[in-house]
Amino acid sequence: MIEELKNQISIKLNNEIKNIYGVEVELKAETPKNKENGDVAIPAFPLCKALKKSPQESASLVSSILDGLNMFETISVLGGYVNATYSREVLSKSVLDSLDEPKKVDNPKTYAIDFSSPNIAKPFFVGHLRTTVIGYALSNILSYRGHKVVRINHLGDFGTQFGKLIYAFTNWGNIEEVRSNPIDTLVGLYVRFNQEAKNKPELDDEARRIFKELESGNEEYRTLWKEFKEYSLNEFNRVYKNLGVSFDVYSSEAEASRKSARVISMLREKGLLVKDDGAEIVRLKEPYPPAIVIRSDGATLYITRDLEEIFDRYDKYHFDYMLYCVGNEQKLYFTQLKEVLKLMNAPFEEGVKHVNNGLILKDGKKMATRDGSAVKLDDVLNESISLARAHIEEKNPSLENKDELAKKIGVSAIIFNDLKNYRENDYEFDIDAATRFEGQTGPYIQYTDVRIKSILNQCAYNKDNVDYKLFNTDSMYDMVKALDAFEDVIDKCISEYAPNYLAKYLLNLSTLFNSFYAKEKVLCENIIERDTKLYLLSKIKDVIEKGLNLLSMSIVDKM
Ligand code: ARG
Repeated sequence: MIEELKNQISIKLNNEIKNIYGVEVELKAETPKNKENGDVAIPAFPLCKALKKSPQESASLVSSILDGLNMFETISVLGGYVNATYSREVLSKSVLDSLDEPKKVDNPKTYAIDFSSPNIAKPFFVGHLRTTVIGYALSNILSYRGHKVVRINHLGDFGTQFGKLIYAFTNWGNIEEVRSNPIDTLVGLYVRFNQEAKNKPELDDEARRIFKELESGNEEYRTLWKEFKEYSLNEFNRVYKNLGVSFDVYSSEAEASRKSARVISMLREKGLLVKDDGAEIVRLKEPYPPAIVIRSDGATLYITRDLEEIFDRYDKYHFDYMLYCVGNEQKLYFTQLKEVLKLMNAPFEEGVKHVNNGLILKDGKKMATRDGSAVKLDDVLNESISLARAHIEEKNPSLENKDELAKKIGVSAIIFNDLKNYRENDYEFDIDAATRFEGQTGPYIQYTDVRIKSILNQCAYNKDNVDYKLFNTDSMYDMVKALDAFEDVIDKCISEYAPNYLAKYLLNLSTLFNSFYAKEKVLCENIIERDTKLYLLSKIKDVIEKGLNLLSMSIVDKM
């Protein structure tokens, strides 16, 4: 709000000059280069020409108009410049009032966001954490700003691995075992297939044949595939529930593949498909490798399915932006996708963005278990929950519902630990550091919120007692300025599709509050001072909780 104020001041100033002198000028309120010159500087030179006055006289005219705005503490004229300092009192009131009404955009856009999108018949791995929490936080932030959001989970449910799985199941599996422990059993079957196929390569042909039949609608195979898919979804939904994440739509690679005749004929009509060694490809401009759209055996590829899917999404949602929250490894792939869309003259191509993310590392390498396999997200969450449980036991053993609390703190710790990193960067995973109640952690922010609430619970306040003159001190005014930055931070998250700015902001706000509280007595004798401070605290709490909600972190009452 404070940043925007300069714009409003310029507009008011120019209007006023037009009213009084009948001339149109474009004076601009700027941020002074030197902090000592106050909050705004206005060069009055455009007035000199228009009114034929000296710089000094022009600046004096500007200064008297500013005076009439009743929002400045001091106004001074220096040569052709006017410098002014805001009245902290006036400003604090407008900032704190403005926090009650979220700023919505005037022209909302539609954002389709493809995020999480795991591959079925596998556990939910920690590698999919980033896309899941970044995509979900972005969707919340965009919708907070008033945009329309369609959250899409595009399931990886297509590919020869399903032929392998069906072969393994029909030869070695039994349905009871699958039903009682679906994911582990399916993974076991898949691993066994790969082992046996090492000595019997004909198994791979068999799997390919099964997959082809599955694709062309073999009933028996389809029933199995559907059942496997349902188990995966149950499993994923459990994970999403733990993370507090939800979707508006599930889409499917298999579905997209079945419908892909449409996009293939579009490509053909535009003359973009070229035969190449039996396959059909789209040639792209230098330096990009061509996009293979149809394999030599006629099967679709990942890009064929995404092409079909995006036209379908555009028909359904008329999105302005289609965001793909997917890892850095697929950077070239999404460039190719966009290049193909450009060649097709797709009307929505400009709004297609790859919101890429880095890796989670352990000792500098992609995080993995001891034997080199992928780490399950469940294992990470459970460890984090038990660390949070231990911290609670150490700090506040008499609390009620410690297990539930540990879950809320442990899961939020993992979410925050991810979101505080700029999405494009890799980060080193340190679960001990992430779950601590102090430092750059989620629990630290939750703890700050709890602390504020416990102060507020000790004493009710009356808003009518709030005296805005008390915001004149640096320590009070700094808190107001920090609260004021919230909406700007939201804008920055949106313009860079990067929720880390909000995560970092919440850390700074928490630190600022904690040092404020260390030096200011809040529950003091003087009722006016006390109620003013309690009111400020309630606003800090509101902003922290708003931020936690947007990041899909839990709010707790005690910890
Ligand atoms: N299933 C893919 C993976 O796990 C991600 C899919 C991303 N979305 C998309 N429309 N390509 O790598």
